[in-house]
Amino acid sequence: MRSLLPILSVAGLASACQRDFDAPRHSHRKPLLRRETQWPPVLSKHETILTNSFDSNSIDDWANYYGHEVKLAGLGKKAAEWTRDRWAENGVDASLAEYQVYLSYPLHQSLAVTYANGTRSEVKIQEDALEEDDVTGRPDNQPTFHGYSASGNVTAEYVYVGRGAGPDFERLVELGVKLDGKIALIRYGGLFRGLKVKNAQDHGMIGAVIFTDPADDGNITVAKGVAAYPDGPARHPDAVQKGSVLFLSTYPGDPTTPGYASHEGVPRTDTSSVTPKIPSLPISYRAAQPLLQALDGHGLEPQAVNRSNWKGALEAEYRTGPAPGVKLSLDNLMEGKITPIWNVIGVINGTNPDETVVIGNHRDTWMIGGTGDPNSGSAILVELTKALKKLGKAGWKPKRNIILGSWDAEEYGMVGSTEWVEDHVSWLKDTVVAYLNIDVAVSGPRVGLGATPELHTIATELFKKVIHPNFGAYNISLYDAWQSNAGGEARVEPLGSGSDFTAFLHTGISSLDVGSGNGPKDPVWHYHSNYDTYHWMSTYGDPGFHMHAAMGQYLSLLAYHLVTDTIIPFDIPVYTTELESYLEELNETIEASGEEIDTAPIAKAIAVFGKAADAISALAKKAEKSKDHRLVKLINTKYRDFQRGFVSQGGLPNREFYKHVVTAPGLDTGYAAVTFAGVTEGVQYGNYDVAREWVGKVAGGILRAAEILAV
Ligand SMILES: *[C@@H]1O[C@H](CO)[C@@H](O)[C@H](O)[C@H]1NC(C)=O
Ligand SMILES: *[C@@H]1O[C@H](CO)[C@@H](O)[C@H](O)[C@H]1NC(C)=O
Ligand SMILES: *[C@@H]1O[C@H](CO)[C@@H](O)[C@H](O)[C@H]1NC(C)=O
Ligand SMILES: *[C@@H]1O[C@H](CO)[C@@H](O)[C@H](O)[C@H]1NC(C)=O
Ligand SMILES: *[C@@H]1O[C@H](CO)[C@@H](O)[C@H](O)[C@H]1NC(C)=O
Ligand SMILES: *[C@@H]1O[C@H](CO)[C@@H](O)[C@H](O)[C@H]1NC(C)=O
Ligand SMILES: *[C@@H]1O[C@H](CO)[C@@H](O)[C@H](O)[C@H]1NC(C)=O
Ligand SMILES: [Zn+2]
Repeated sequence: MRSLLPILSVAGLASACQRDFDAPRHSHRKPLLRRETQWPPVLSKHETILTNSFDSNSIDDWANYYGHEVKLAGLGKKAAEWTRDRWAENGVDASLAEYQVYLSYPLHQSLAVTYANGTRSEVKIQEDALEEDDVTGRPDNQPTFHGYSASGNVTAEYVYVGRGAGPDFERLVELGVKLDGKIALIRYGGLFRGLKVKNAQDHGMIGAVIFTDPADDGNITVAKGVAAYPDGPARHPDAVQKGSVLFLSTYPGDPTTPGYASHEGVPRTDTSSVTPKIPSLPISYRAAQPLLQALDGHGLEPQAVNRSNWKGALEAEYRTGPAPGVKLSLDNLMEGKITPIWNVIGVINGTNPDETVVIGNHRDTWMIGGTGDPNSGSAILVELTKALKKLGKAGWKPKRNIILGSWDAEEYGMVGSTEWVEDHVSWLKDTVVAYLNIDVAVSGPRVGLGATPELHTIATELFKKVIHPNFGAYNISLYDAWQSNAGGEARVEPLGSGSDFTAFLHTGISSLDVGSGNGPKDPVWHYHSNYDTYHWMSTYGDPGFHMHAAMGQYLSLLAYHLVTDTIIPFDIPVYTTELESYLEELNETIEASGEEIDTAPIAKAIAVFGKAADAISALAKKAEKSKDHRLVKLINTKYRDFQRGFVSQGGLPNREFYKHVVTAPGLDTGYAAVTFAGVTEGVQYGNYDVAREWVGKVAGGILRAAEILAV
C-alpha cells in the first residue's frame, strides 16, 4: 500500500501503499533551483562508496526478477527465499520468519447491471491481457477482488456516494437520499478503501462497488488526447485498483490475533470489528461510466450535494440516483483461511548490541507485477545489501545493529510487519532506535517523505546529497526537486498509516517513510492494477532505473548515518516546533466547534518538553566533540527511548492498537495522519468528554517523553 506520495493535484502523504488526492498543492517546475544544495553535493569517503555502489543495471535485474514472480500474500515463498539468498550472498545473516495468518482469496466475482427496460448487461471486471506486457496475460495472475471482502450475492438499486467519506454520507442523509438496502457506487481516492466500505455498511447499504475516476489523472487522460498504456502514458481504461478493505484505522495486522503474534495454535478472535459484512468489488473507469450514466436524470445533482471531489471526469452527471429499476447484481465469493506467510529478516550485528536500526519494505503484491508497489523498494533493499558489503570491505563496521525486513502480507493490512513487531515487541522496545520504510520507492520522479519530527533534519539534509537523475533536462538534488515540485513549500508529513511503519510507530519507535510518485505531467502509475509491471516501469515509470538508484542512494545514506554516527542524528528541538504547530491546529479545530476545551495542559507539557529537548541537544553537541563514552551512551539511550513516552497512555478510544498520542491514522482517513487524534477526533465527532480526557493523556505522553529526555 502506500500513503505517501505527492501526486497530481496531490497531497503527499508519505506513507504506504496509498495516495491522497484531496489536498491540492501549488506546484511548478523550476529546473535550476539550487538554492539549498551545495552543488555538486560533497560526500565523505564512506558516503561515496555507498552511492557509487548503486547500479541502475543491477537494480533493473532485481526489478525484473520480482516483476515476474507470484507474490500474493501467502503464495510468495519462492520470492521470499530468493530475497533471503540475495541478501545472504552479500553477507547478511538472513532467514524466513513464518506466521500463520488469516487471509482471504477470490473464488468467484461478477457484476451485472439491469436497466429499467429489463436488459441485463455484465460489467467487465477483469483487466485485459496486453500483448506488449508479458505478465498481464499469465494464467497465474489474480482476478480483481478486494482483500478481506465479505462473500455475498446481492441485487439492488445503487446510489453514487462520491468518495464515500463520513461527511459524504452525512450529507446524503441530511438531504434525504435513501441509502438503506442499496448498493454504494463509490469513487476511489482520499480515504482508505476499507473505510469507504465501512461507511456504506454503517449506513445500511448492502454492497459496494469502488471505481477509479480519470479526474485523478489530471491532464494525462485519454479524454484529453493522451494515449493510454501500453501505447502512451495515460491510464489504461480497464485498469482496476485492487486492495484490502480491512478497517485499517481500527487495527492493522492479522485480524484474528489483535495484539499478539500469529503463531500456530494461538487463540483466534472474530474479525467483524475490522472486516466488512457487505461484499465489494473494484472496477475500472471504463466499466464505471455506463453505471454513472444510468443515474443521469435521477437523484441529486453535484451542486445540490455540494461536496468536494464529487463530480469526476467521466461523461456523466454524477447524480446520486437511485434510478428506479436500475439495479446492480454483485456476486463475490471469497475463501478465508489461516495460511503461512514469510517475512525475510536480515541481521548485521553492530558493535553495540543495545542499539538497532530496522529497515524494511514489503514484498507481497496483488498481481504478478507490482514493480512500483512495492518492488521498487524490494529491488533497492537487495542493492543496499551489496552497498553495505562494499563498505564493509573498506573497513567500516556499523556501531548499531541493522535489521532488514522484507515483509509479507502488507497489502492485506501490514500483516507481516505487525505480527513480527508483536512477536518481538520487548526486544524492539529495548533496542530499536529507528525504523526506515521504503514501500513505493519509485512510481514517478516526485519524492515524498513522512517521518517523526526528530528525523526531519537528517532526512532533508541527506536529500541534498543525492542527485535527482531526471528532473526534466537537468539533474538537481532530491532536495531541490522536492522543494521545486511544491513551490518551495515541501514539508515532511506526519505519519498516518498505509505501510509497514505503522506497528513500529505505535510501539513508540522513531519512524520514517520515503518514496516517489507521479506528478501532473508524468506518466500515470497504475496503482494496484495488473498494469503496475516491469514493462510499465521500464517504459514509462523509470526507464533506465536511475530514479531507483537515486532513492537507493538516499536510503543507504540515511541507514549509514543512523547506524554509524557517534550521536544518533536526531534533532529533538524540531519535535517541539512540530508539537506547537499541531497544538495551534487543534486550538483552531476546537474554536471552530464552538465548544470550550482547555488545551493549556498540552501547551504546558510542550514547554517542559521544549526545555528538555534544548538541554539534551546542547549536551549532545558537547558529547559529539568530547566523544566522552559515558555521555555518548547516555544521550543515545535517551534518543532511542524518548518516543516510548508518547505511547505510554494506553491506546486511542476504541482502537487500542494505535497508541501514539501525537500522530495516528484518522478514523475516517486510514492513510492520512491526524495529530493529537484523541482530542481532535473527540471534537470532530462531538465526543467532548473524550476530547477533554485526551487533553490530559496527550499532555501525559508528552511529559513522559520529556522525562525520558531530561538530563
Ligand atoms: C435498455 O437500456 C439500456 C440502457 O439505456 C440500453 O443500452 C439498451 O439498449 C436497452 N435495451 C433495449 C432492449 O431497449
Ligand atoms: C446470485 O443471486 C442470483 C439472483 O438471486 C442468482 O440467480 C445466482 O445464481 C446467484 N449466484 C450464485 C453464484 O449463487
Ligand atoms: C491541465 O491543463 C490546463 C490547461 O493547460 C491547466 O490550466 C491545468 O492546470 C492543468 N491541470 C493539471 C492538473 O496540471
Ligand atoms: C457549499 O458548501 C460550502 C461549505 O463547504 C458552503 O460555504 C457553501 O455555501 C455551500 N454552497 C451551497 C450552494 O450550499
Ligand atoms: C548477532 O548477535 C546476536 C546476539 O548477540 C547473536 O545471537 C547472533 O548470532 C549474531 N549474529 C551474527 C550474524 O553475528
Ligand atoms: C543526469 O544523470 C543521469 C544519470 O545519473 C546521467 O546519465 C545524465 O547524463 C545526467 N544529465 C545531466 C544533464 O547532467
Ligand atoms: C492553545 O490554547 C490553549 C488554551 O486552551 C492555550 O493555553 C495555548 O497557548 C494555545 N496554544 C496555541 C499554540 O495556540
Ligand atoms: Zn506497498
